Order: sequence, then C-alpha cells, then structure tokens
Amino acid sequence: MRNWIVAGNWKMHNTIAESVSLAQAIKEATTAVKNGEVVVAPPFTALHSVSETLKGSAVKLAAQNMYPEDKGAFTGEVSPLMLKDAGCAFVIVGHSERRKYFNESDNQINLKVRKALTTGLKPIVCVGETDGERNSGVTQAVVNRQVRKALDGVGVGQMDRLVVAYEPVWAIGTGKVATPEQANDVHDFIRRLLVEIYGCAGADVRILYGGSVTKDNIAELITIEDIDGALVGGASLKADAFLGIISKMP
Ligand code: PGA
Repeated sequence: MRNWIVAGNWKMHNTIAESVSLAQAIKEATTAVKNGEVVVAPPFTALHSVSETLKGSAVKLAAQNMYPEDKGAFTGEVSPLMLKDAGCAFVIVGHSERRKYFNESDNQINLKVRKALTTGLKPIVCVGETDGERNSGVTQAVVNRQVRKALDGVGVGQMDRLVVAYEPVWAIGTGKVATPEQANDVHDFIRRLLVEIYGCAGADVRILYGGSVTKDNIAELITIEDIDGALVGGASLKADAFLGIISKMP
C-alpha cells in the first residue's frame, strides 16, 4: 500500500508573511487527513517561518532545490544540512525549470539525489519530456534516461525514501494537463523501470503526477494505479485550490 502525497511547489512566490498565512490555512484544514501526506515547498526565505507555523501538524516541509555539499565556498547555494535545520523533510530535485533555466544536468541531479538521501532528506525527483520530445516519440527514452541517471548509485535500501514526480514539461503551468492515458502510460513505464532496477522495493516508491493539476482534473488521475499523488504548482498558491485537490485523495 502506497500512501498518497500532495505536494505544493510554491516556486518563486510568497513573502514570509504570505507563506505563513497560506501554511496556517493548510495546517488548519488538513487535521483530519488520513492515508497520505501533505507537503508544502515555500521559497528558501520562508522555510524556517513555515516550519514554525506547521509545528504540531502533519503537514511536511520541502525545499525546492539544494546544493549537494554539507557546506563550503558555494556562494548563493543552500546545503541539505541547512534545509534539515530549517525543518525540511523533503527536497524537490531536478524540476524542469531548474533543468531549463539553470542548465541542471542529469549528473548534477544525481549528486543531489544521493546527497539528499544520505543526509536524511526525501528527494522528490522530477522527470518528464518536452513537447518536442513527445512529438518525436521519444518520451519513454527521455524518462528512461532521466530516471536511470538520477538514481545511479542509489541503493535498494533507500527506495522507501524516494519519491518520483512525472511532470511532462508541456503540461507545467500551461493548463494543458496530460490525459489519463498519457499519464498512465508514463507512470506505468516508470513503475516497471523501478521494479526492474530495484525489485519489489521499486513497487513501493511513490510516483506523483505534476503539470496543471487542479481539483477538477486530479479526481480521474488519482484513480490510476501508479499515480500516487500530485506535485502542484499554480493551484498550490491558494489555500482553497490546494485543499480542493487534497479533498479528492482516497
Ligand atoms: P503547475 O506546476 O501545477 O503550475 O503546472 C507544476 C510544477 O511545476 O511542479
């Protein structure tokens, strides 16, 4: 049995005060949540304050990125130890916006995934094809490469702390959600890949769908066997929209 996760990626939005107030609303409305985890990923500046706000609740904190070293002369970067210190349990790694705007490579993503795991953070590893890649029929090849490279050197004993998010790039922030068939095909492919590499431990990894998720389209997607929740961008910025998605979870 895999518990669902609904994670809100706030991206570069919200001041500290806005973040605290959104977190407070989510905390208050999710006290009765069962069988799953609610996660919020505020910007770095708000992590500590949101962590204080979430105390005493089951809502978990995630960072949106990290640098794969404990400390050092890496101006502008934030280490996994700092994220744990700020109260994070999860970290998003390899989001397509990081790959696209900051040229993050599969190799860098792999270093981050491994470092997150050895530091005791749960990585939410994002994979997904662009529009052009889907149109040229290489979706599976792209996802295959991204998953294998991200997990290079990751052991079977670490699978219980791994989360994968399938986020087709063409669906992110576009309002163009993947159809249930499209999502099912790729989630099923990722599941088979994880089981091929890690055996039955791969069957326990949660695979989230991300890309224009709303309370209206998640209901059907969540019925798909290998969709274990959602990574939500735009619809995580308003409490009502985010809580509407959580209300559709089994
Ligand atoms: P979106 O973003 O829900 O706004 O499409 C999803 C994401 O980038 O994780």
